[in-house]
Amino acid sequence: MKIAIYPGSFDPCTNGHLDVIIRSAKIFDKLVVAVLTNVNKVPTFTVAERVDFLERVTKNIHNVEVNTFSGLLADYAKEINATVIIKGLRALSDFEYEFQMALTNNKLNPNVETLFMTTSTDNMYLSSSIIKEIAKYGGSLDQMVPIEIQANIYDKFRR
Ligand code: PNS
Repeated sequence: MKIAIYPGSFDPCTNGHLDVIIRSAKIFDKLVVAVLTNVNKVPTFTVAERVDFLERVTKNIHNVEVNTFSGLLADYAKEINATVIIKGLRALSDFEYEFQMALTNNKLNPNVETLFMTTSTDNMYLSSSIIKEIAKYGGSLDQMVPIEIQANIYDKFRR
């Protein structure tokens, strides 16, 4: 069974993340969407909220599992027998850091390869921080965030 991991902070997940999930799930037997719990920056949404959002937006994709991890991604990949790490690339600016991480992860766990998936042009400009900025000022999140979780995102910024 070919298992891939799609790791991230997902604070919150966006249509860009969902697009990568849908396309990757078609390639692998199982895709584990892994939410990092020990992020350096303080997240806006709790781990439970981020997992809940991902579970709701992926509920119809039978081979996707949402999980959490802390520590090194290379170790987590070993633990769940994943041989592929999926990363989404939006712009060239993402590349240098991702390239460094891909090489490091392969050094730490030679059984794991990183595959980069280019984002669809519709989602190129999207990021979790942009989503939060828009939500803070009550702007429309249509076509940026799955409809199922939009209310939760606005709620977070409502006083
Ligand atoms: O959504 P993000 O914040 O860009 O995701 C970053 C993530 C979670 C993929 C990355 O920070 C990560 O893999 N963290 C775990 C620690 C680790 O293994 N670091 C890379 C090797 S030094």
